[in-house]
Amino acid sequence: MKVSPSILTCDFARLGEEASFVERSGADWLHLDVMDGVFVPNLSFGPPIIQRLRPVTPLFFDVHLMMEYPDRLLDAFADAGADSLNLHVECRSPLEPSLRHIRQRGLKSGLTLKPGTPAEAVFPYLPLVDMVLIMTVEPGFGGQKFMADMLPKVSAVRDEARRRGLSPEIQVDGGINRDNAADAARAGATCAVVGSALFGASDPAELVRYIQSC
Ligand code: DX5
Ligand code: ZN
Repeated sequence: MKVSPSILTCDFARLGEEASFVERSGADWLHLDVMDGVFVPNLSFGPPIIQRLRPVTPLFFDVHLMMEYPDRLLDAFADAGADSLNLHVECRSPLEPSLRHIRQRGLKSGLTLKPGTPAEAVFPYLPLVDMVLIMTVEPGFGGQKFMADMLPKVSAVRDEARRRGLSPEIQVDGGINRDNAADAARAGATCAVVGSALFGASDPAELVRYIQSC
């Protein structure tokens, strides 16, 4: 699987250095958790932070929009240097126009499912997305426990995409570590977000290599 470390649990006083640390770990992407304090009970950062981070690393900026109205800021995130924009299927923005706009801006598009949302909610949009993100924790905070009962949903999305002749990235996000990464890959995940497990690892590069081998 690709590895996309989340900086949500990093030392925000040294954000630039932490982004370089992620790059040195051999990770494939950088996962940027945008939270608006409405869609989730937490507030993180927006386009200005992403814009300042952009010149620090060439890593693919995988932006996870935990926002009630992400359509209002799609251009701002694209201008700031995002490489992909992932909306929640539960948000209040018009999904199809928003996904089309993301692609018109030359970015990769994605849809995310909260744990309580069934896989079928994303099926109608599969032709419009380059990635489906299946949350394996309730969105809002890093350092939570992995929800293994989300794995059948990973397989359901993989199987439906395959049935339609599509091959989106299938990303799992939340509580991923050495003990569950192989299970997620077996279920069909092609990309893993890793936050606290990476920032707490004694050998981050080895953990990245291991998850990439799953
Ligand atoms: C939670 C975020 C996740 C989280 C992952 O709402 O979407 O990306 O930061 O962090 P860990 O790996 O610590 O669960
Ligand atoms: Zn995330």
